Amino acid sequence: MANELGGFMVEKNPAFEAWAVNITPGSRVADWSDQELARAIREGIRPDGTVIGPPMPISLYRGLSDDDLYSIVAFLRTLPANGTATPFSTYNIPLPPAYGPPIESVAAIPAGVTVAYGEYLAGPVAHCLECHTPMGERGPMFDTHLGAGGFEFHGPWGTSVSSNITSHKDGLAGYSDAELKAMITQGVRPDGSRMLPPMGYHHYAAMTETDLNAVVLYLRQLPPLPEGG
Ligand code: HEC
Repeated sequence: MANELGGFMVEKNPAFEAWAVNITPGSRVADWSDQELARAIREGIRPDGTVIGPPMPISLYRGLSDDDLYSIVAFLRTLPANGTATPFSTYNIPLPPAYGPPIESVAAIPAGVTVAYGEYLAGPVAHCLECHTPMGERGPMFDTHLGAGGFEFHGPWGTSVSSNITSHKDGLAGYSDAELKAMITQGVRPDGSRMLPPMGYHHYAAMTETDLNAVVLYLRQLPPLPEGG
């Protein structure tokens, strides 16, 4: 579904029509400095001062460490240049002037099977919580509904609804660690059924055992919430 050349519609709803734009070196980002591209990713502000809208999870990307952010920038610079002009997203809702105060620097969280590292992976890096938290007027309701699921996605597959991934019985309480890892990395439930898009199982398959254990450890301690909060 997703490829790095962009140019596909990500979501269409009454609030916005979002397109994933070309971010290869063949696009306008070629003219942006590394700092400018980094700021667009982590703070959602383009060099011309305009703000990037949903569904890009800027509020989570604000937590990306400098090391990881600049690794992403370096990686994007190595993509094959593609000159395809992709449509821009349109918003019928006002975008905020910024997602928070300017960010000077974010320190790396040491890798290891810790709740802190799991939280970093499930948030800024793999943005599990963006999709698995219901959306309110001002974005995902992290403060009150963290991980409760119930966010709807529309696409060629029909409609999928993100699952509750808290420690509640409506959530992950009934799954073993091995079952959870198989769902995250393969998109297959314990009964053998395949999970629907748009969760990026194929990307998560690249997670190391340490990464996966940290994410599972973190999810297990999310306060239990019923489906959809
Ligand atoms: C782009 C949105 C998106 C992202 C990002 C995402 N998910 Fe999901 N996830 C979904 C949707 C939608 C479903 C439901 C799929 C279905 O109905 O078949 C789902 C299902 C699941 C399930 C199955 C639960 C069950 O009871 O069936 C688990 C576990 C899960 N996600 C964990 C994660 C974790 C952990 C991450 C981050 C590493 C993550 N998800 C990232 C959208 C997402």
